[in-house]
Order: sequence, then C-alpha cells, then structure tokens
Amino acid sequence: MEPLNVKPKLNTLTICLTLALAGMLSGCNDDDDDDKQEEPPVSQVKDAAYYQKMAKEAAGKMSVEEKLNMVVGPGMDFGNGEYPATNSKNDVSGVAGYINGVKNDKLDIPAAKLADGPAGLRINSTRNGSSETFYATAWPIGSLLASSWDTKLVGQVGKAMGEEIKEYGVDFILAPGMNIQRNPLNGRNFEYYSEDPLLSGKIAAAIVDGVESNNVGTTIKHFVANNSETNRNAIDTIVSPRAMREIYLRGFQIAVEEAQPWAVMSSYNKLNGTYTNERRDLLTDILRNEWDFKGLVMSDWLAGTPQLTGWKQLKAGNDLIEPGGFTDPVTGAFNNTGVLAALKESYNKGDINEADVTVNVEHILSQVFQSPSYNNYAATNKPDLAQHRVLARQAAAESMVLLKNDNQALPLTPRLKLASFGVSQIETIKGGTGSGQVNNEATVMLSEGLQQQYTVDESLTSFYRDYYAQNKVEHPGFVASIGTYFTCDDPAIDPAVIESAAQNNDAALITIGRIAGEGVDRTYTRGDYLLTENELSLIKNASDAFHAAGKKVVVVLDVSAIVDTTEWADKVDAILLSYLPGQEAGFAITDVLSGVVNPAGKLAQTIPQQYADVPSATTFPGKDTNGDGTPDEIVYNDDIYVGYRYYTTFSKPVAWPFGYGLSYTTFGYDAASVEANTLSNGAKGSVTLSVSVTNTGNVAGKEAAQVYINAPQVKLKKPTLELKSFSKTDVLQPGANQKLTFTIPAKTLASFDPQKNQWIVEPGTYKAWVSPSSDVTGREPVTFDVSQEIVVSNTTPDALALPAGVNAADFVTVSQ
Ligand code: BGC
Repeated sequence: MEPLNVKPKLNTLTICLTLALAGMLSGCNDDDDDDKQEEPPVSQVKDAAYYQKMAKEAAGKMSVEEKLNMVVGPGMDFGNGEYPATNSKNDVSGVAGYINGVKNDKLDIPAAKLADGPAGLRINSTRNGSSETFYATAWPIGSLLASSWDTKLVGQVGKAMGEEIKEYGVDFILAPGMNIQRNPLNGRNFEYYSEDPLLSGKIAAAIVDGVESNNVGTTIKHFVANNSETNRNAIDTIVSPRAMREIYLRGFQIAVEEAQPWAVMSSYNKLNGTYTNERRDLLTDILRNEWDFKGLVMSDWLAGTPQLTGWKQLKAGNDLIEPGGFTDPVTGAFNNTGVLAALKESYNKGDINEADVTVNVEHILSQVFQSPSYNNYAATNKPDLAQHRVLARQAAAESMVLLKNDNQALPLTPRLKLASFGVSQIETIKGGTGSGQVNNEATVMLSEGLQQQYTVDESLTSFYRDYYAQNKVEHPGFVASIGTYFTCDDPAIDPAVIESAAQNNDAALITIGRIAGEGVDRTYTRGDYLLTENELSLIKNASDAFHAAGKKVVVVLDVSAIVDTTEWADKVDAILLSYLPGQEAGFAITDVLSGVVNPAGKLAQTIPQQYADVPSATTFPGKDTNGDGTPDEIVYNDDIYVGYRYYTTFSKPVAWPFGYGLSYTTFGYDAASVEANTLSNGAKGSVTLSVSVTNTGNVAGKEAAQVYINAPQVKLKKPTLELKSFSKTDVLQPGANQKLTFTIPAKTLASFDPQKNQWIVEPGTYKAWVSPSSDVTGREPVTFDVSQEIVVSNTTPDALALPAGVNAADFVTVSQ
C-alpha cells in the first residue's frame, strides 16, 4: 500500500468539496446514482444489521486517508472555530467535539456533533451573528435522579433531554455518566448515580432509552473504574477481576444489554496497568463479544497518549480518538493535527493496517447513519423548554431524600413566617462544574421559591443577599471555555440575631451548600465533607433558640454529594437532602418543604457515620509510588465490598442506610412471597417475588421497594446483602395498595468466579427481603432454593487480570 503523507494536507477538504460540488450533489449523503446506498422500504425495520451493512458499504468507498481522518476528531475548538470538522454542516456553537465526516465523489457524510453532558445539553447559549438564544434545561444532577429509584420518571427526563439534543442540532450527548460512587470524596460523584451497580445500570438504561427515543445518541461514560479525579489522566486503578465484574462493570453491562447506547466513552485512567482505551479485553472481548455492544467506543477527551499510541487505542476497539489533538508535554501548547499525523506514521510503519481501521470506521458509521445530521434533520432550535421546566421541577422534587422528620416537622405549613439562614438560599447551587454544567436561561434560587409559599424574614434574607454580593469568590472554570462559578462561605451569625429571628418567626430553615466539579476530588475538611465552624454554630444556635421558643429547625442540603451529618443531625428536626436540583432548584425545594410534593426519593448511596468508616477511606485518592508528589496508583482495597455491601457485611452502623428515605406518608409491606422459581432451568431460569405495598398514612405518595438477597457461600464469599431488584409504586392514595412483582433472572443473582472466569449461581438456600431500605433489621425474609450450581456464562479467560506479581491479597484489606 502506498505510504501516506504524514504532513496534514491542507487542501484535501477543498479538493473534495470542489469535486463534490462539480458532481452536483443531490440532497445529501450520496451523490452518485450508481453508488447510491440502498434505501429500504419504509416498512423495513432499520435494525443494527441494517446500519452495519450500510456502514460496510460506505467504508468500502473511503480511502485509507479518509478512514484515518474519521477515527480521530478534528481537534479542540477553543471557541475560535479554527479547526472545523471535515464536512461540517450546520455547526452548533459549544459542542465538545465532532466525528469527522467524509465527502468524496461517492459519499457525503456530514460531521456528527458531540456535546456534553449528564445534567443536560451543554452548548453555548448564544451564537455569533444570531440574536437567538439556545438555552438548555439544567436537569437535576445524576445523584438526585437516581435517588428517585423511578425508571419511568428518569425515562421521561431522558426523553425531554433528547428532544433538546435533537432540536438544537446535536447528534450524540456525552452522557450519562455512570461510574460507581465508590468514595464520597470523588469530585464527579454528582454526575454519577449510585454506589450500587444494579441501580446505576437501570437508571442509565432509562436515560439512554429516553434520550434515544428521539433518534439521537447517548454515550455512557466513563468506562471504567474511573472513580476519582486526582491525577485522572495517569492514575493506575488496581482492581480485582471479581470486583471489576460485580461492581464496576456491572452497571455498564446492564445499560448496554438493556438499552444499547449508541456510544461508550472509555475513561482517562489506567486499569491494572494499561489505559482503558488501550485494553482490548475491555473494549472488544467484554464490551462487544460478551455483551454484544453494537455501537462505537470513543476515548475521553485527550485521554491516554494518543500522539504516541493512538494506534493501540484503535486496535483495542477504541474506535474514535477524541477530540483529536494533544497537549504538548514540553511546550504545553495544544497541537490539533499531531494525532492524525502520528496515526499516519503508525500506518506507514505497519503498527496498524487498513483492515483494523475499517473495523473502527464501520462501528462509527453504523451509528452516524442514524444521526440527525446524516438524516438531514432540520433542527428547529425550539425545544419545548416550558414543558421541560415543569418536568425538571417535578423530577427534582420527587427525587429528594427526606432523611429526618421528627414529629412531622415537615411539611411547613404555607404562609407561616420563616427565618431562612444560609448563603445558599441566595446562590442556590443547580449543578456541578466542568463538562457536566449546563447553560440554562435562569436558575430559581431558594429565596425566590420560598417567597411563593412563606412570609420570609426579609431582614435575614437581605443580610445574606448583601453578604453574598460582597463576599462571593469567583473561580475559573475547569477549562477556560467552561464557565466560571462563584462560591461564598457562610458567615458567622450573631446569636442575638438568631434569638430575635426565633421570636419573630414560626420556624427556621438552614441551607447548606456544596459545589464540586470535574478534575478535582473533594476533601475531608471543614467547608467540604465536614460542615464549617460557622455552619455548625448556626445549626446549634438556631436549634437552641428556636426549640426554646417551641419552633422547628429544618436543614436543606443543597450539596453535590454527601456531607457529614453525624456532628449535627441530632440538633435539628428535619433534614432534606435536595442534592443539586437543577435550574428549578428553589421551586422544587419549596414544593417539598411545603408539602406540594411528597418526597419519594431514597438514598442511592450510604451516608456513613464517619468518613473513616468508608472502606476506601484509607486508599482514596491513591498513593504516590514514584515520589513526584502526586498519587499515581489507587488500589481498590474494598474489593466487592463497596457501600452498603461493606456496612451490612461487616456490621458497621451507618448514619443513613442505602435505600433509605422518608415520606410524608407511611407505607406498609405485606409479607413477601415467592411466586415462581424456575432456577432449576439453569441460566435461563429466574425467581419471581411479590409484595403488596399499602399507603398507611394520610397523604398520597409513592414508595420505592427494594429486594435484597443473601446468597449462600459455597466457593465464593458474598456480601450479606445485595440489591437484586426494585420497583416504585404509582401514586398511592391513603389506604390504597399496589402489588409489586420482581423477577430476578439467574444472571442477576450470579456472582463472578475468578478462578473459572464464570458467572455462577451457587446452590443452597437464598434469603430475600422486600424492604423499604437496605436496613432489613426486624424483617422476615422469604427463601428460595437453588438445587445445583448454575453456570450462567463463561467469560473471556483472564480478562482484566491484575498486573504481573500483584495479588488481590496484597491490597484487599476488608476481610470477614
Ligand atoms: C470529560 C468528559 C467530557 C469531555 C468532553 C472530559 O474532560 O471527562 O466527561 O464528556 O471532557 O467535554
């Protein structure tokens, strides 16, 4: 094969365009009648095989150069439009990247547009030369959506998010983020769903299906074991294959098998010694061959060393190197063309051949052919933002977790006089920073929301307003192009002010705020995981003064992720974990405080008594093995015992258990029953449980019921409890009940046997609790039997093995 010119050909695009125009393109996509891709009859189902065939045919009409140009993004657009994608049409300002298109005398495939992110579409809200605005909805953060345990509600959010993606002319969203919340200090936990893979996987599948019902793509990320931000581009995550399978991969597997997202984004980190984007066992053997993934895999932005080993990424099954380009380690300058040039050299040297790249191109095209850009969808730029505002408010309010509500302190009767403390009522935090932030039109502050329902003590509110205006600190965005943000610590409040507020008002509300973002982990310090001295004194003094006056004190946690509650929770009457509720924050929180909405969220992560109780506290965020002052290796010493799996197995008391959340009503669970057990059929078998849930209180509400299993230990140790199913009731009126049915396939029951590389269901008696939370104390389990070991599936031998010479026993510190 002819060697490729490694110098970027500046005029290639011009020549192609000229040729194509001379050929008088008709419409788009295919200009030449002889070579026209076969259009199926309208009735024909366009399934994966259809697009794969179409992709194969198109790849056959591309030169090697065009193929290489497609597997590398065009570079980073720093807002100056310097590096347009090949065959870019109807550009959208503020996208994070592109998939280069191709235009030759046989093909006219426009570039596809890729935009963040997990809390909604991140594009620029204005465009040069246009007076229009392009605001997107800032939805509740992932951690809040997952706390709904409501796949229907989350699916509606996905559908609405997808409408914005489509109507603003974007093809793929770089979301959802679904890494496991292994440790509460991960800076990006807000983008993620849960410490549990089943919940993460089901919520992700619901988002994917919702978004993709609009014929736009999702990109589940960050695949995989990217559970911290410190030194994220180089850190080596050391995890046992069993923990990988049961905890870190499992959610992705569920999302892939149940929802087939268009794309997967590999992560920044190394996994057991090798960058995830260079691991063929991960991206091809497991993802494609075991799970039957049919989409494309892209790298995270600038991940790994694409300028040196881009070819390894491609061969491993990382089909697309994004955004194209790299930061020169010596000069620090961004080089937009070097990755493509390096790939051409690799091709010329024979490190990678045309057949390899063709596989990548086919994966890419099979998805691009489904995209709005390829299909000439004329974006309206008019998504139904008004309707989405209503849904964002509902989704946020319903998903909030009521942690404490002594003597029915909440709801606070509308129109009573409220003393509202805390800077976060003025600058209510809608979401996290970095690529997961959204350019929405306006965020409703809590102070605004409260005005709608209460007579708010104006002297306090205006004090906080002035304080914020004078003391806010501006922080640069993580990347210059991703907006700045403000923070402001809570001031000390004179006890006399609190005393007088207690005399003049009916109740106190204290809002605690915490923001977090991409690129940095949180810290176990006051002002971050722990409350500041000022916050603690405020809680103490307000509780003393208001309680002395016979009045209630309520705390709202407007936080990106969990904070310590042990130091102060006993002082207050009610605690509402609102997380970061998105743009309707102030209204949604007020809806819950006032009882307009009955909160129905449950914790998707445990709140421990102390940070030190977290099993990964001793290893997070990694250790510096090479002495350069930065952690470069993180060992997953907790193995499969992440979150409640650890606390329940090792009998560690927690502050608030996984799955827990109160309601303004109460629910009764009848005794659960085993409706069917077909596990004797082996891998295809399942067990079906049911329970009837009754609203035993006075107001309408929804309840998320959860099934925890205790499996027998034959060859493999098991966590005491594992979530294997969940279901949310419809809105139940007082006295109403609903039967919930849970079918648990053998596959879901199975554990991973690393000796045999098999998923197995071990024989014996299984206990199952259908429970309102992972605290099953005092509840009677039902049981079912498995008569002999079921081998559910065989997996790739030795996939994701630990580095040579490293044994799990060397670093796993949890033991029974
Ligand atoms: C983030 C991704 C994001 C990408 C594009 C990266 O820094 O890790 O989650 O999608 O940037 O903005």
